[in-house]
Amino acid sequence: MKKILVVGSLNMDFSIEISKFPRNGETVLGKTMSLIPGGKGANQAYAAAKLGGNVSMVGAVGDDSFGEMLVSNLQLVNVDTSGIARIKGVPTGNAFVMIEPDGNNRIIVIQGANKCIDCKAIDKNIRLIDACDVVIVQLEIPIEVVAYVCKEAKRRNKIVVLDPAPAIKNFPLDIFKYVDVIKPNETELAILTGHETECRDDILAAGKVLIQRGAKVVVATLGGSGAVLIKKDMHQFFPAKKVDAVDTTAAGDCFTAAFALAFNGNNSEYAIKFAGRVSSIVVTRKGAQSSIPSSAELLNWSGF
Ligand code: RIB
Repeated sequence: MKKILVVGSLNMDFSIEISKFPRNGETVLGKTMSLIPGGKGANQAYAAAKLGGNVSMVGAVGDDSFGEMLVSNLQLVNVDTSGIARIKGVPTGNAFVMIEPDGNNRIIVIQGANKCIDCKAIDKNIRLIDACDVVIVQLEIPIEVVAYVCKEAKRRNKIVVLDPAPAIKNFPLDIFKYVDVIKPNETELAILTGHETECRDDILAAGKVLIQRGAKVVVATLGGSGAVLIKKDMHQFFPAKKVDAVDTTAAGDCFTAAFALAFNGNNSEYAIKFAGRVSSIVVTRKGAQSSIPSSAELLNWSGF
């Protein structure tokens, strides 16, 4: 069984269905509000475990009931949560997720305890890096910790998968040399590179920038249009299955987790197809971790 370590965030999502996003100065009435376990890191850990991986997570929650709920939810799918610290006097991370009827979302994250992960926490849990095959990391935790994790994982010859979400403009260039796979969506690709990503040519040009910076493989997700694989000397587009999306929350996280689970260093095409199938299911269901299919559901899903 593939051993995956996720280093990253845990958030309690306040998931709000609305008929349209409010504009500047506008108030809109929401339809429903649900509390759903989320956080990009926790979503990835949950997805990788539910799809059949042997998964550990390093992260932090507050010493409050949300923190307990988030850790318990991961334990339900057998994620090893021994690397998740409970920080006294700091609230667990929260996310406010607005979802329009077509499934698109806008998210505001209050980092809370996710900000408290430091490099010492990584050293303390270095056995989890030693024990895994693949390390997944995203950007809802301090960037110096992201850099440290990538470096320590690569030093140990692990496959490093970086989901650069939420993207930052001044992403440290020296991290790229440790990254095997980077998986931005179109918006994140634009922010990371300063390039437009309006059409296929733009996306390819921006992806090549990340390759020039040192990433070995770029997998850019393009929402309902699918994904594109970009390497030094090739690229390939992968169309997405057409489905009725109700909520795209965590679709990117699940894509990353599924890709990491399937990827052996040499089979990007297969891993993208597998990840695309998982994301296609996720967007037809509401919420973050609540939308993630098991490997059995994936096999039996009638949408394919
Ligand atoms: O990617 C989706 C996730 O982003 C949500 O679950 C929310 O917690 C934010 O981290």
